Amino acid sequence: MQDSHKTSILQKIIQVTLPVRQSIGLTRKQLVHRWRKNVTYSHPQLMTTDLFPEETRMLLDAFENTRPAIYLEVGVFWGGTFRNVIKRRDELSLTTKCYAIDIWDELYDPADTTHGTGQPIKEVVRRALVKEGLEGFDLLTGLSVDVQKLIKEKIDLAFHDANHTYAAVIEDLNLLYPLLSDGATVLVHNAGKEYEPDKMYFETDGGPYQAVMDLVKQGKWKLIALEYRMAVLKKIP
Ligand SMILES: C[S@@+](CC[C@H](N)C(=O)[O-])C[C@H]1O[C@@H](n2cnc3c(N)ncnc32)[C@H](O)[C@@H]1O
Repeated sequence: MQDSHKTSILQKIIQVTLPVRQSIGLTRKQLVHRWRKNVTYSHPQLMTTDLFPEETRMLLDAFENTRPAIYLEVGVFWGGTFRNVIKRRDELSLTTKCYAIDIWDELYDPADTTHGTGQPIKEVVRRALVKEGLEGFDLLTGLSVDVQKLIKEKIDLAFHDANHTYAAVIEDLNLLYPLLSDGATVLVHNAGKEYEPDKMYFETDGGPYQAVMDLVKQGKWKLIALEYRMAVLKKIP
C-alpha cells in the first residue's frame, strides 16, 4: 500500500517536471547525473568495494610484499578498493604513485546517458578521495587498452577488474605485459569458478578463469595463488 502510494507520488513528480525537463532538453537520468556530479558529489555506491574482505586482504598483502613504486587498478567503479590501497600505502609510508583507469562517465556522449548514468562519476570519486586526505594518485580516463598511451613508467603491481570476458582479459594482460617491471605482480579479479559471477563468466566463454589458465600455459606468467575470486600472477621475464 505504502509502496504504491510512493510510486504514484513519484509518477506525479515525473509528470509535473516533464515540461521543464523537455524545455532544457535533458532526460531525468541526465539531470540526476548532473546533480550528483556538480551539486551533491555523492552516490549511494561511492567508496564501496566490489571485493570480498578476503580478496581485499590478498590485494593489500600483495601491495605490502611488493612495495611497488607504481601501482595500477584497471576498472575502478566507485573507488572503494582504490581508496583501501592508497590508505595501505600511506600506513606503510611508501611513496607509490597510484594510477586508476576507468571509462567513468566520460567516454560517453553526454547526449546518450542511458548507460552513462550507471557509470562511476570520475569527479565524484576524485573529490571523495581528496576529502579523505589522500594524494599521490591519478584517475585516468580510458579503456584498459589505452594504458600504454597513458602511463610511461613501468608498473610493479596491477589489479585487473574491468571487462571480464575471456577475450578482454587475454587482450588486457597481453598489452600489460611489456608495461610491467620484471617480476611484477598482477591480480585478476573474478578469475575463479566457484563463486558468482565467476561461475557465469566461466560458463559463458571461459571468462577470466580460462584466460588466466591459458596465459599461464603460454609460459609468460606464473600462477602464485587462486583464492576466492582472485588470481595472483607473477610476470616471468
Ligand atoms: C567490477 S567494476 C570494478 C570494481 C572495483 N575494482 C572495485 O574493486 O570495487 C568494473 C569497472 O570497470 C570499468 N570498465 C569496464 N570495462 C573497462 C575497460 N575496457 N577499460 C576500463 N574500464 C573498464 C567499468 O566502468 C567499471 O567501473
